[in-house]
Amino acid sequence: MNKKKIFLDLKNEIYKLWENNLDLTKFTKLPGRLKYINKKPHLLGVIRKIKNFQSESVHTEKILNIIAKLSPHINWKQTYSEKDVGKSFLNKFAYFEFIGPTGHFFSKKISLFFIFFDVKTFYTWHNHEAEELYFVLNGKAKFESKGETPKILKPLESRFHRSFQPHSLTTFNKKCLSIVIWRDKLNSKVQIVKK
Ligand SMILES: [Fe+2]
Repeated sequence: MNKKKIFLDLKNEIYKLWENNLDLTKFTKLPGRLKYINKKPHLLGVIRKIKNFQSESVHTEKILNIIAKLSPHINWKQTYSEKDVGKSFLNKFAYFEFIGPTGHFFSKKISLFFIFFDVKTFYTWHNHEAEELYFVLNGKAKFESKGETPKILKPLESRFHRSFQPHSLTTFNKKCLSIVIWRDKLNSKVQIVKK
């Protein structure tokens, strides 16, 4: 199996998704050319839950299948420490930077992450300077952000977070895989905040 080929397949699917979705296109353009970076895989126990994830949309099915196949080659991250978010959260959450300054494809213009939450997970209130768009690929989650009505998002729905706007995410009986995009201030620090 050619690892680079699977990464390129995922990139092509992301471009297709962009072509067919106005929320994504309006938020940011994807960089024209991206250099593939051969990063070391970093695996986490929680990622086994991404396998056998039943797709709920024909528009995201291929992406889900590719991620399941690609998973052992991905540089999965968690960033947070147990002290800040608790051990149970770290058993339920993982993300990776697909495109960006430290991504599997290099870009200085945007960061595109994939982020996964298991069932019954609360991602605590936090903020960052970068403007952000969440786009749900599979499953469901409740999105809360300061000053706005909470909303449960399902596949192909998105939610914008302003610069430094506190936000949180909760899953219930469904796991959730989303894309997260930052379009500026790519070196922003994520800070845990009070609501
Ligand atoms: Fe965020």
